[in-house]
Amino acid sequence: MRLKNDLLIRAAKGELTERTPVWLMRQAGRILPEYRNVRSKLSGFKELVKTPELAAEVTMQPVNLLGVDAAIIFSDILVIPEAMGLSYEMVEKKGPYFPKTIKSKADIKSLHKVEDGELNYVYEAIRLVKRELNGSAPLIGFAGAPWTILCYMIEGGGSKTFSNARKFLIQEPKLAHTVLNMITESTIKYLHQQVLAGADLIQIFDSWAGILPLNQYRKFSMSYIEKISKSIANAPVTVFAKGAYFALKEMNNLSCNTIGLDWNMDINESRTLLKSKTLQGNLDPSILYGDQKYIKMETKKMLKQFKGHPHIANLGHGVYPDTNPDHVKIFIETVKAFSA
Ligand code: CP3
Repeated sequence: MRLKNDLLIRAAKGELTERTPVWLMRQAGRILPEYRNVRSKLSGFKELVKTPELAAEVTMQPVNLLGVDAAIIFSDILVIPEAMGLSYEMVEKKGPYFPKTIKSKADIKSLHKVEDGELNYVYEAIRLVKRELNGSAPLIGFAGAPWTILCYMIEGGGSKTFSNARKFLIQEPKLAHTVLNMITESTIKYLHQQVLAGADLIQIFDSWAGILPLNQYRKFSMSYIEKISKSIANAPVTVFAKGAYFALKEMNNLSCNTIGLDWNMDINESRTLLKSKTLQGNLDPSILYGDQKYIKMETKKMLKQFKGHPHIANLGHGVYPDTNPDHVKIFIETVKAFSA
């Protein structure tokens, strides 16, 4: 199926596009009343993730209601640890909770690599969205980076410091690599299937990149991200490593097309360090709490700094759940008007 709007794909491939494509991390769900309406009729978040028709419906909402240039499949990075044998619960207003976590070698014995036939609900949702989009926008598939997934598998939920995961790297480095390899192989299989089902671009989320020092980040995260990026031949790849400003120089050598910037990363410096990459980002999501004038001004300021470099407009991290959807629209419309 030919894409009628392929701005995102062309920008990812390094083209200076006639206008900057725009989408938002965590655009599917969270901020839209239409999402909450679908969600409120269900037993919980996981029912939504595992019901392809509904996952497809909420994936389409931001495309139809906000006018973004890409859809991102509604799912979660945590479906991988679940398929590997560590099930999670999504606790209302709190976040993920894993009843079983990794503490020792024995806990790893019960894990398995993701096989064909697992996670079919995600691929089915992708096929449904592709049919619905009918080429009107590209569809982004995604997965968590192995390090970020390992953080949740060890910690069992969110954490301010992820110090249990960090302790594991120091005390059990070999075991850490064993699990990281299992996650990596599972993720490669998973992302290949997403592309086969129709995903036009793949994004890897390394949300907890910023808590590692460079030497550990190289060994325990970037090397696995590289394995995954290298394995995806039929779709451009974006790597978003939150807080990894210290690794940007080396990320220029990754086998990916685009690097996502968070709002603390300096745009000019990033352009210099990442000469061969398209850049994505990086408006501070809190700017959307401001008024119309402020949002427009800050968005234009950001766009100007990226001008002349292949760019995909986005926030510097996921949109905050209490953001007014009308403010999101102002951001999107400003991007569209600016570069036209
Ligand atoms: O971008 C999108 O809109 C697609 C859907 C998507 C979700 N999670 C749906 C979701 C994506 C891309 C993710 C990725 C994800 N999940 C990440 C990486 C991105 C990031 O923000 O750093 C992480 C770390 C997770 C793990 C996770 N899932 C947490 C910590 C939580 C609870 C807090 C929160 O984000 O709301 C979730 C739940 C979750 N995942 C929700 C949604 C829409 C909220 C659940 C609900 O509807 O109640």
